[in-house]
Amino acid sequence: MRTPRFLQLRRDDQAAVRAELLRGLTAPAATTSPKYLYDALGSRLFEAITELPEYDLTRNEAAIFAARAEAMSARVPGGATWIDLGAGNCCKAARLFPRFAPRRYVAVDIAVDFLQSALETLQRQHPELEIVGLGLDFSTRLELPAGAVDADGARVLFYPGSSIGNFTPAEAQVFLRSVHAACGTAAGSGLLIGVDLVRDAAALEAAYDDALGVTAAFNRNLLLHVNRLAGTDFAVRDWSHVAVFNAARSRIEMHLQARRDLTVRWAGGERAFAAGERIHTENSCKWTLPDFEALLTQAGFARGESWTDDARRFAVVWAPAAAAPR
Ligand code: AVI
Repeated sequence: MRTPRFLQLRRDDQAAVRAELLRGLTAPAATTSPKYLYDALGSRLFEAITELPEYDLTRNEAAIFAARAEAMSARVPGGATWIDLGAGNCCKAARLFPRFAPRRYVAVDIAVDFLQSALETLQRQHPELEIVGLGLDFSTRLELPAGAVDADGARVLFYPGSSIGNFTPAEAQVFLRSVHAACGTAAGSGLLIGVDLVRDAAALEAAYDDALGVTAAFNRNLLLHVNRLAGTDFAVRDWSHVAVFNAARSRIEMHLQARRDLTVRWAGGERAFAAGERIHTENSCKWTLPDFEALLTQAGFARGESWTDDARRFAVVWAPAAAAPR
């Protein structure tokens, strides 16, 4: 019986993480990277968000995979190495295994501890599948170590959930170029990616500011995470959750807004915030399908195929790494 193999690449040391956070917090317009939304509690709150009535992204994407899997299998190669970016509980990829029968599954997440139990369960369900858990921070660019993938055989880079929306268009361009390089040179390789499409601003704002307050908790929990990482003394009660659709940039912006004049302190420094001042914690870009396809082309991908739900709220795109030979 096979067992999963685990590889953890070097993570930024504590001092580098602290320096990055404090740089963002002391900038004139304070900001933090969205990756700090995901400590253990943040990851659980995000899973809860995906079940909220207002947040339909996850359900829209699942409906597309359920309805269009047959059409996808005419494009996406069978028997490939699947590389799942931000795999988490690995459920989305695992649901597609019966259709695409991968030869090897490489689950990538920031830390292998997040993958351990999911991959052990998956291995019991798929005893023949070669499984690798890869701990890697790919939040700016992706570089796969030689030990995780072999040189030959098609690769399917799998990036569902519209996480690409959490990059600005310029960042997405850099990231997608690195994904294109990670596809390797074997025929048939490509990227299978989910993207949330632009639509009614009120519906988008409700999806990021739900009536139960789960997204507010997800956003405000970032402050507890930052306190642990950077030694700051943020008091969660002093901060409100704000989610607004920036139509000019076609993105939902999440901010934390100071409820009163206050000062945040840490060893060796402090930052004053006036009442109403904000920390920008996340962008969630919403694309039109033509603009997103153009982004993929600029990143080096060939023209592929896209599938949407009936209301065109979400798209799953297959982007081949290279044009098929005629
Ligand atoms: C992970 N990512 C695609 C989510 C999104 O919709 O941008 C994160 C999220 N932020 C607030 N709600 C969900």
